[in-house]
Amino acid sequence: MNINEAIESRISVRAYIDKPVTNDTINKILDVARWSPSGTNTQPWKVAVVQGSTKQTITDGLLNAVNNKIPPNPDYQYYPESWVEPFKSRRFQCGMDLYEALDIGREDKEKRLEAGLANYRFFGAPVTLFFFIDKDMGKGSWVDMGMFIQNVMLAAREHGLGTCPQASTSDYPDLVRKALNVPDQFSLICGVALGYPDDSEPVNQYRTQREEASSFTTWFD
Ligand SMILES: Cc1cc2nc3c(=O)[nH]c(=O)nc-3n(C[C@H](O)[C@H](O)[C@H](O)COP(=O)(O)O)c2cc1C
Repeated sequence: MNINEAIESRISVRAYIDKPVTNDTINKILDVARWSPSGTNTQPWKVAVVQGSTKQTITDGLLNAVNNKIPPNPDYQYYPESWVEPFKSRRFQCGMDLYEALDIGREDKEKRLEAGLANYRFFGAPVTLFFFIDKDMGKGSWVDMGMFIQNVMLAAREHGLGTCPQASTSDYPDLVRKALNVPDQFSLICGVALGYPDDSEPVNQYRTQREEASSFTTWFD
């Protein structure tokens, strides 16, 4: 697969077939992603590959926290307190497109809640990757992490694998750190679900929209 194809075919996959991903394949993906750039080559990434009973422990813990309305306690604030345009409208559209693909109506709060909870089951993916960064590192290293995580997702495409980055799975970082024996010194950035996409599911058949490059680019001579 060439790079353009990998970038353009990566979508957030929210349904997976029941097929394991071999450790060899996961290793190959991480082996490529390690060539990501980072400021002064600090390579700030730390990854946990989570499968089987450990994944189930985390799912149980996350669902328990959400169902008991325990306030989320993420290591960083992903989204703004209040939304402004154009981000507000794009976020709204993103939700509308997803619910339409899932055939969930505007008023169907129960189904919307259930769709949200699917996050904590990693959408049925056999693997979830958790990405951590040392709290001593600065904001710049979080930029490095973004590049690294994207490269993991692109390398996964080479193997016919789908991914979904999931900030929702970092809502309760203490619980995840405990299950994975990760010291408090590391911030949890996000999880990424990994597995073979279920192409028959409508939720994997729609595409999110994008602005034209000309709308965010200014050219200078
Ligand atoms: C860091 C990050 C966190 C995300 N968290 C979630 C999440 O918790 N749940 C989810 O369903 N999608 C999540 N997404 C997926 C976005 O909704 C998705 O990338 C966006 O709508 C664009 O769609 P695409 O990935 O299919 O191109 C996340 C994306 C990123 C980059």
